[in-house]
Amino acid sequence: MPSFVVSGQKRLSGKVSVGGSKNSALPIMAASLLAQGCSTIYDVPALLDIQNMTDLLTCLGASVEKSGSGFSICCQKPLCDISSYETVSRLRASVLVMGPLLARCGRVKISMPGGCQIGSRPVDLHIKGMQALGAKITQGHGFIEARCKSLTGTKIYLDFPSVGATENLMMAASLAKGQTIIENAAVEPEIVDLANYINLMGGKIVGAGTGTIRITGVTELNGQTHTVIPDRIEAGTYAAAAAITRGRIQIDNVVPDHLKPITSKLREVGIAVTEGDSHIIVDASDKQKATDIKTLPYPGFPTDMQAPYSSLMSIAEGTSMVIETIFENRFLHMPELVRMGAHVKIEGRTAVIEGTKKLSGAKVKATDLRAGAALVIAALAAEGDTEIGEIEHIDRGYSEMDRKLTALGADIVRKD
Ligand code: UD1
Repeated sequence: MPSFVVSGQKRLSGKVSVGGSKNSALPIMAASLLAQGCSTIYDVPALLDIQNMTDLLTCLGASVEKSGSGFSICCQKPLCDISSYETVSRLRASVLVMGPLLARCGRVKISMPGGCQIGSRPVDLHIKGMQALGAKITQGHGFIEARCKSLTGTKIYLDFPSVGATENLMMAASLAKGQTIIENAAVEPEIVDLANYINLMGGKIVGAGTGTIRITGVTELNGQTHTVIPDRIEAGTYAAAAAITRGRIQIDNVVPDHLKPITSKLREVGIAVTEGDSHIIVDASDKQKATDIKTLPYPGFPTDMQAPYSSLMSIAEGTSMVIETIFENRFLHMPELVRMGAHVKIEGRTAVIEGTKKLSGAKVKATDLRAGAALVIAALAAEGDTEIGEIEHIDRGYSEMDRKLTALGADIVRKD
């Protein structure tokens, strides 16, 4: 099992460039199944999750080829059965092929995704929305099967603005008859990116990025070329890494607006953030004070930044409260931070972190993607060496994290 060994207390400085957004690239790759011809998607990050999506699309009959920084995806006639639980359990975002396959084949059978480390992650909102569009859904033996003669536009109100459900329904509705209105839709930048891609292919979606999305179905979508937006969570993670080492770094290839929920919080902590057109500069030379956060759907503070932020709070001055409202089990990094000397008390979905003067290196393990990133951040500030195990979780979502941090002055080595 590979691990990272980090020798802490090196101040980060220099420039780092973030890659394309994982959470945009995954639904956009799934949406390529909607198109008659070939699509080329640029700035797809080189990640394990992307490889898993590539394998899934290939199983579905698509040809996926690397083309420069992108992928060319062609799917003349998708196959509509995904039998393997292994494929779906390796990649939660597998569920995103349901909408496109239902719309294109009138039928899809997919293994139920099940939960993961951070929560039970039901897909009831995806299913209810597809039923509203006219699909008959049956569930049994660990599979969900959806069938329809045709999909018909309708009004769908989401009980919760789920990112995945909004994406799946937007994709299905793009080839439905008539108009679909999704209310209480997710408003994340990744939703807007997906809508822009579908519209490029000939779709008719308006209102993406607001709570009400109107989709007028079309009879056919055609492959197009699209560039994925930058990864706001990767950018936020490097900002937190610089901050915890009292460093000063420039983060390139970002959309500063997408980062507002993160940068406004960093400023409250005492970190100077200046914004350019497509970069930010994070200067963390001043004292950092404990500041509370509550995770919320965009434009609230992102749940994906909660763990990296918790590491930062573990050595901030004072006591902070971290409230996780999106996933029920997203504090798995906290006991590992405690092993490194952090003072954390957990009560339900609230963690109270009392800042300590210093963390100390220890052997810890990454339990999930963002928990892993949090441990790397804590290790950068810790006295002595930290060995972080199970870093395959980190590789699912961060491309060459060790190389990027080394270029910023960190001492981090991958041990295979
Ligand atoms: C996406 C992101 C993930 C991020 C999350 C929240 C991708 C590939 N992943 O995940 O990194 O942490 O958004 O910003 O884009 N829920 C239901 N029923 C459903 C669907 C969701 O109850 O049918 C609940 C979930 O259990 C969770 C909450 O809604 O508690 C948010 O989930 P959702 O927005 O759907 O997240 P994902 O799309 O899975």
